[in-house]
Amino acid sequence: MPVTPDPAALASLVSRLRAAGCVFAEDEAALLVAEADDTAGLDAMTARRVAGEPLEQVVGWAEFRGLRIGVQPGVFVPRARTGLLVREAVRALPRGPRPAPGDPADARPVVVDLCCGTGAVGLAVAAEHSGVALWAVDVEPAAVACARRNAAALGPADAAVLLGDLDAPLPAALAGRVDVLVANAPYVPTAEIAHMPTEARDHEPRTALDGGADGVDLHRRVAAAAPRWLAPGGHLLIETSVRQAGATAAACEGQGLAVLVVHDDDMDGTVVVATRRSR
Ligand SMILES: C[S@@+](CC[C@H](N)C(=O)[O-])C[C@H]1O[C@@H](n2cnc3c(N)ncnc32)[C@H](O)[C@@H]1O
Repeated sequence: MPVTPDPAALASLVSRLRAAGCVFAEDEAALLVAEADDTAGLDAMTARRVAGEPLEQVVGWAEFRGLRIGVQPGVFVPRARTGLLVREAVRALPRGPRPAPGDPADARPVVVDLCCGTGAVGLAVAAEHSGVALWAVDVEPAAVACARRNAAALGPADAAVLLGDLDAPLPAALAGRVDVLVANAPYVPTAEIAHMPTEARDHEPRTALDGGADGVDLHRRVAAAAPRWLAPGGHLLIETSVRQAGATAAACEGQGLAVLVVHDDDMDGTVVVATRRSR
């Protein structure tokens, strides 16, 4: 039965959330009330939120590029800034079908989402550019399970979510056929994790955050892997930060890719777009 707290109970809920450091306490209270099945459920969700769990993990979903993406405890919550990665990936996709002499399914543009977490990035790209073939990979079983559920609800019917280290689980048949390879890999420098907000530090897995000493270790590995998979003229897009963009770009240039850095102030996002030369 839906919960309808009286004004005093609602004010008390807002106060508890505010005291716990929730900046948008009124909005969060309204969402918790809307999502709770009953009063006991509302109490349980409030306790989790007050203890510092991300709101999206508590309610079980996050809004991302207009999609309702399922989020579970222990899985990275998609951030609004990652919308830039989606926007640029959609821009980079070829407009028409590619020549495919055999199976017509092979004419679809191929998108690979490495380090997929919930699968939000690849699923948003597929939602904004219909008719892509989507492959996603994550090293965390909880993320893969979450992304598979999201793909079943939102994705192309044959979207594949694979468990493993970066590109290792991709089928060899994709080599040289990927039009867009996106990666929001971890890029927090190891020493800075201790200074992150508790929501991230204590409730998102370290594998989702830790990018090594300068934060760019995974970017170097993704860049090294990309030329094998990209089609001629295909694009690798990596989310990074303003501070780290030079190192991310250098990793891509070191693999012979042509690099452009895109930044959007409104989204507070930075993406390196690296293109495999056609010849
Ligand atoms: C910053 S989160 C991004 C998740 C998702 N792409 C998004 O934007 O919401 C990074 C993800 O990379 C995954 N990851 C870390 N190291 C990995 C590796 N070696 N291979 C595959 N996935 C990895 C983590 O499990 C985590 O889900």
